[in-house]
Amino acid sequence: MAMTSNPYMETWQVADQSTGHANAANKTWWETAAMTYEDWSSDDREPRNKQHFEDINRAYLAQNPFLADYFQRLDLSAMRVLEIGCGMGSAIINLTKSGAASVTAIDLTEKAAEFSKLNLAHFGIEADVKQMDAEQIDFADQSFDFIYSWGVIHHSRNTDQILDHIPRLLAPGGHGVIMVYNRNSLRYYLKGLYQLLVKGLAFKGENLASVQKYFTDGYFHKHYSPGEFRNILRNKGLTPEKTSLSHMAKRYLPLVPTPLDNFLKRKFGWLLVVEFRKPKPLR
Ligand SMILES: C[S@@+](CC[C@H](N)C(=O)[O-])C[C@H]1O[C@@H](n2cnc3c(N)ncnc32)[C@H](O)[C@@H]1O
Repeated sequence: MAMTSNPYMETWQVADQSTGHANAANKTWWETAAMTYEDWSSDDREPRNKQHFEDINRAYLAQNPFLADYFQRLDLSAMRVLEIGCGMGSAIINLTKSGAASVTAIDLTEKAAEFSKLNLAHFGIEADVKQMDAEQIDFADQSFDFIYSWGVIHHSRNTDQILDHIPRLLAPGGHGVIMVYNRNSLRYYLKGLYQLLVKGLAFKGENLASVQKYFTDGYFHKHYSPGEFRNILRNKGLTPEKTSLSHMAKRYLPLVPTPLDNFLKRKFGWLLVVEFRKPKPLR
């Protein structure tokens, strides 16, 4: 999800993110630059045919090594599953293969919903895919046993509002996994300090938090420390069960031996993954 040179960013990074207008701008951002795992600057980013979807589905696991392992061990037998922010629909295929009884998936954009449906149709996978803003999810209480969201809720204006829905939507004992960006990561500090000090953005009023917009995808791109994100989940009545740090497959730092690079990814990776559960009430 790293951003190199996205032409859309330059106009939007200065927009006011505090108003209702920002929600529309967020949607436009993702309608214009859908998450297809193609290079952000490529003009051939959108899937055209079955082969292209197959490439995207492969890239989804290849570029997210955590997920390749995670889906191997995930058992969703008989569970009703919700994915928040399905992008091109690649996770839906893996959630279905993990034994889910049903998969429902939502995304803010029409484009993501349409491409996800096409992806599933190519591979004969059934799921209920809808365009829906996760800040306003309107499914009934306790409709799901498992909720999955990978790299989505930190891209929304009111992340807290999305997280309010999760304990409401989960049945007691239900569980899930969320990935958000890790503030305690090498990427956040090294890229941030480079932009501030070497590119001189510190002298233009930017700080470590604000400068992330110059090299990070999305209209919004919040970062959380692991402890902070776990506390947010606890405050929603959810129990964090496992925290993992990870990173995309590509090398984190140049010229660093692979074992050290892998160690840095596990300790200071950019992807913060928290597995959680909604407790059953005590009798
Ligand atoms: C970085 S992409 C990740 C997509 C997919 N989960 C993946 O890993 O390939 C972020 C996705 O979040 C979606 N999104 C952003 N804000 C959202 C919201 N408020 N409700 C639902 N989806 C949202 C975007 O449309 C986009 O598809």
